[in-house]
Amino acid sequence: MTSGLRKGLTHYGDAEFALFLRKAFIKAKGYSDDALDRPIVGITNTFSDFNPCHGNVPQLIEAVKRGVMLAGGLPMEFPTISIHESFAYPTSMFLRNLMAMDTEEMIRAQPMDAVVLIGGCDKTLPAQLMAAASVDLPAIALPTGPMVVGHYRGEVLGACTDCRRLWSSFRAGEIAADAIDDVNARLAPSVGTCMVMGTASTMACLAEALGLALPGSASIPATHAERVRCAEATGRRAAEMARSGPRPREILTATAFRNALVVLQAIGGSTNGLVHLTAIAGRAGVPIDLDAFDRLGRDVPVLVDLKPSGQGYMEHFHHAGGMPRLLAELEDLVDLDARSVGGGTLRDAVAAAEDFSGQTVIRPRRDPVNPRGAMCVLRGNLAPRGALIKQSAASPVLMAHTGRAVVFDSLADLAARVDDPDLDVEAGDILVLRNAGPKGAPGMPEAGYLPIPKKLARQGVKDMVRISDARMSGTAFGTIVLHVTPEAAIGGPLALVATGDRIRLDVEARRLDLLVDDRELARRAGSRAAIAAVETPARGYARLFQESVLQADEGCDFDFLVPGRAD
Ligand code: FES
Repeated sequence: MTSGLRKGLTHYGDAEFALFLRKAFIKAKGYSDDALDRPIVGITNTFSDFNPCHGNVPQLIEAVKRGVMLAGGLPMEFPTISIHESFAYPTSMFLRNLMAMDTEEMIRAQPMDAVVLIGGCDKTLPAQLMAAASVDLPAIALPTGPMVVGHYRGEVLGACTDCRRLWSSFRAGEIAADAIDDVNARLAPSVGTCMVMGTASTMACLAEALGLALPGSASIPATHAERVRCAEATGRRAAEMARSGPRPREILTATAFRNALVVLQAIGGSTNGLVHLTAIAGRAGVPIDLDAFDRLGRDVPVLVDLKPSGQGYMEHFHHAGGMPRLLAELEDLVDLDARSVGGGTLRDAVAAAEDFSGQTVIRPRRDPVNPRGAMCVLRGNLAPRGALIKQSAASPVLMAHTGRAVVFDSLADLAARVDDPDLDVEAGDILVLRNAGPKGAPGMPEAGYLPIPKKLARQGVKDMVRISDARMSGTAFGTIVLHVTPEAAIGGPLALVATGDRIRLDVEARRLDLLVDDRELARRAGSRAAIAAVETPARGYARLFQESVLQADEGCDFDFLVPGRAD
């Protein structure tokens, strides 16, 4: 098999000439023949001025390169798309598959024997791992790492659970305008990813649980010297993998995904983590069974005491021992014989775990944060293919609740009416948002955390049952039912709900039901007005997205990128 600079030569009908030409051009940068004969390690450069979560990428690349060269390889960095949550219109999820395609194609197109995937902000690691599973070239993930915490008047703050909590207080009139400006400047005090157990932290932990990142790499703060040393070690290991593997699909087995699902429950992870994990598994040909995931949640407790399910932040998780320590605590629930890019198995990582007695962030099994896992899968006539609730971040009093639906037809309708003083809404009602799914919005925005209507917020209402076909930021707290599948825009039952209908949520029974009889629902379904027409964009990526995106239970990947799916 060809390797190094001989891989993927341009077709001129003369391979030696193609190599001659390639060398001639690359020598323009001063490389010697000795350097060009080494195994090549590609390094994704996702630095962007629009992505502060990746602000340390240049320093990490420098350290990865050092590690590659120490192990006798040739590092070659190359750019890919970078996506930040706040700078991606219409949504970052809309662009995740584009980044996955870009990363996959650039790994395929350029001659490399292994690749280091430097990612961090919510959609970047998932996109990179999807690409790695498809290309199946030796790959190792390097998270950019979480931000350090911020402080405001003695209170520890973090993006972005506290962003939402304090903004809600501001909406309720409890915080003044100048104070919220001060808070705004303290919520994200350094480069790196959100430091709560949001989607970025979740995906970094899952990358480690899957065996695709070095032990401990999920939680080291972005600004610590240890993060830079981790980058060097990642580069060194990538150069070794360039010679002898393993390849991603040797690691991404059904066992590895089961381990990751256990970890997702135990860390109080983001609901987005399940969508991304499903997409990565789809690329590797491993089906994710939502009901099996739900059953895991009945046995696996939440052990990591981080916001939004608990109290701490990622740097506290790191000081407590991070993922190796957590895996030690979950020893009987995961398969520690699963392989890791570290060269051994998860058992080796656990054997090297720090034991910090007295820490309270990674709880022992006898004293969990929550005796059940983070998430439940709901089914019922409102969600035939499932919906998700993060029970560990929900209000216990609302876990069994029947209420009157107050329906918003779209994000625009929500924005126009939710704060209207004349909106007919009471604290016990259930807020419903539809046409915010993968095709409906499009791009399934993180709009599932519907704001509490201002007039109720001012009365002190902190939480309500909220239901949508949207996603939610992993940093959010509330009794929020998400990913209702199929979505309203393709005719899912959410399209049939009318304001005034009664909805019953029963988390213990895993049920989500619209209390309207079948005849009436059939009548409504027969009315075309019930289903909003989704227009297919005339051109470009938006058209590809609309025509190809799958539902949440299939990871929102494109059908033609999932093996066996588009046949
Ligand atoms: Fe990038 Fe939160 S905005 S990780």
